[in-house]
Amino acid sequence: MLNIVILAAGLGKRMQSDLPKVLHCIAGKPMLAHVLDNARQLRPDRIVVVTGHGAERVRAAFEGESGQSDIVFALQSPQRGTGHAVQQALPHLLEGGADDATLVLYGDVPLVQPDTLRRLLAARDAGLALLTETVADPAGYGRIVRNGAGEVIRIVEHKDASDAERAIGEVNTGILAAPTASLRDWLGRITNDNAQGEYYLTDVVALAVADAVPVRAAQPAAPWETLGVNSRVQQAGLERAWQGEQARRLLEAGVTLADPARFDLRGELVCGRDVFIDVGCVFEGRVELADGVHVGPHCVLRDASVGAGTRIDAYTHVDGARVADEARLGPYARLRPGADIGPQAHIGNFVEVKQSVLGAGSKANHLAYIGDATIGARVNVGAGTITCNYDGVNKHRTIIEDDAFIGSDSQLVAPVTVGKGATLAAGTTLTRDAPAGRLTLSRVAQTTVEGWQRPRKKP
Ligand code: UD1
Ligand code: CA
Repeated sequence: MLNIVILAAGLGKRMQSDLPKVLHCIAGKPMLAHVLDNARQLRPDRIVVVTGHGAERVRAAFEGESGQSDIVFALQSPQRGTGHAVQQALPHLLEGGADDATLVLYGDVPLVQPDTLRRLLAARDAGLALLTETVADPAGYGRIVRNGAGEVIRIVEHKDASDAERAIGEVNTGILAAPTASLRDWLGRITNDNAQGEYYLTDVVALAVADAVPVRAAQPAAPWETLGVNSRVQQAGLERAWQGEQARRLLEAGVTLADPARFDLRGELVCGRDVFIDVGCVFEGRVELADGVHVGPHCVLRDASVGAGTRIDAYTHVDGARVADEARLGPYARLRPGADIGPQAHIGNFVEVKQSVLGAGSKANHLAYIGDATIGARVNVGAGTITCNYDGVNKHRTIIEDDAFIGSDSQLVAPVTVGKGATLAAGTTLTRDAPAGRLTLSRVAQTTVEGWQRPRKKP
């Protein structure tokens, strides 16, 4: 049985925030959610989250509305150290046999990768395994003390360490894996007789050595994996490190990023071949870009799929929309949820589209609002066209059939239909259906007033 215990009771005072620390985000996702997602990749039999400060908010954030989840919460109040925190999880750990293991993770160390955790579990070899790292500045960390034969014999916390021990560069990341039954036994034997008066999880190392249980160490693949967040400065630093890593993975996969240092992915981005992404774009939720998609600078794309060869120009927002192949969007276009843009269609500057289908080759190039509309193929939507979809109470649909031409500055008061090949003259306010193939207009006839004079300023 594999148990994963995630420590998340700490206060996070240096964040200067009312939000519990583990709910602060990296790449748009709470730190604890990163830890949980990585933990789940190991297919554990049980996940226990130890909460303390802000316990109710942390719990609420991860329980479904039904209160159902795959997580067991254990409360640690007050917080008496990392060993005491894991003690609170002990009643919930599952045991089944000799290969039982418990992996301890920190809720504020969000980016330890599943591969690193798998290597740690493999290194365990039925004993205790520690994730350690050699760093240039070990101040503050627990130090890994090894004997002459190079075997780990104990961990000494910085505050309890001698000068000689403080010179050790190999530090404890805090992450470890242990045989569950032994961990239970060791945690029953630790004391708080130390500089901080806390129950240290790290004291289990010396107990394992005394019990002749093998202690091994493994190292993370990348240094950013074990960076913890205690302050906004550290959060910002880790955000950049992770964005750099995500950018690197996309570059490796063949995506061109105009500047990998000016790229933000807060979700999942799936790209085809030869995709180009200019500077300052933000991707959220799940975004798919097919082969040859070009994304101009400063675009925001959320939960969207974009077809092959489509070009998105600068400052365009795409949210909850689908765009087919070889379309053109922007600059300054806005697609809202339910926008479905057909192949070779064009959506130009200051055009907003919501809950609408735009057929193949149709164009709305300037200043328009298209809401709750079904627009066929090869339709031209003139500048300033507005679908009046909302009567103040209900939304109504506008239907524009193939090859229609909507003159500039028209208002289509829904529900209304423009027939196939119909033309609306500029400035039409359409309140009844426009018949197919005919010209429809609604205008006051133009007159010129003879003899009219401009008023003059009184002397
Ligand atoms: C701990 C380790 C240290 C290691 C360092 C890595 C111990 C005694 N020391 O140090 O060897 O180098 O992490 O960052 O384990 N937590 C609780 N309840 C508590 C105390 C802590 O849930 O009572 C949680 C915190 O929220 C945090 C994690 O445990 O997620 C580590 O706590 P922190 O105080 O940062 O660890 P240190 O004592 O600095
Ligand atoms: Ca810490």
